[in-house]
Amino acid sequence: MKLKDKVAVVTGGAKGIGAEIAKAFALEGAKVVAVDMGEMTYAQENVEFYRLNITDTEGCKTFFDDMIAKFGKIDILVNNAGITRDAMTRKMTDEMWDAVINVNLKGIFNLVRYIGPQMETNNYGSIINISSVVGVFGNIGQANYAATKAGVIGLTKTWAKEFARKGAPVRVNAIAPGYVMTDILKTVPQELLDQFAALTMLKRLGQPEEIAKVALFLASDDASYITGQTIQADGGMRL
Ligand SMILES: NC(=O)c1ccc[n+]([C@@H]2O[C@H](COP(=O)([O-])OP(=O)(O)OC[C@H]3O[C@@H](n4cnc5c(N)ncnc54)[C@H](O)[C@@H]3O)[C@@H](O)[C@H]2O)c1
Repeated sequence: MKLKDKVAVVTGGAKGIGAEIAKAFALEGAKVVAVDMGEMTYAQENVEFYRLNITDTEGCKTFFDDMIAKFGKIDILVNNAGITRDAMTRKMTDEMWDAVINVNLKGIFNLVRYIGPQMETNNYGSIINISSVVGVFGNIGQANYAATKAGVIGLTKTWAKEFARKGAPVRVNAIAPGYVMTDILKTVPQELLDQFAALTMLKRLGQPEEIAKVALFLASDDASYITGQTIQADGGMRL
């Protein structure tokens, strides 16, 4: 029971990678709140659903207040909710640019501005931001997404410094997954997915459970001396 008595928030926790993270945390003893604007796709003991669009600034403050009223603290935050709106730069609209920046960057800021300081005061915390290999390598047709996922790495390093500056053991790390089989890849043609698999040393795409195991490690005290880092869980990918 690596997360016994811990309170964890997982954004985008209704499906995909976030769902596997929420389930893995609950199985290790955490009380988990799966935050999502979409419908919950599973039922799991000790995982409760909270409907929230993380771009809603006021809604995020209300969510934080509700969490503190109910649990008294948040020990672990996984900023996993994210979207893509892909197009070549010359075809990318303002709407596509703004939507991705709003969810993938502003949405994270909306929660961390409250939860980070609470962890500092509570003298305990682990924040895990889900970046992407695209933020590390860049990718054709994903200027908006790549910018946000590189930005997530900058946020990770900044918050690792900021929330620990008075000596509180608040750790902030990122995971940069490679291509993982979830709905987010629904619009990517199979031929391209095969090419991505071929670009990995392991010659396959990832499964959401494999990202959840990394998140569990970073969330737990097993990673007590790891902060400000980005772990690439990508099967050895070169984009
Ligand atoms: N699947 C991959 O190949 C891959 C690779 C690298 C990084 N990632 C990242 O992993 C994270 C999870 O991706 P996934 O593949 O599980 O995607 P997914 O589309 O299966 O799930 C994303 C979840 O986030 C929720 N969400 C989206 N916008 C939201 C908002 N504004 N407020 C609240 N919830 C919101 C959705 O409703 C959905 O339940 C994302 O940040 C994504 O960028 C995914």
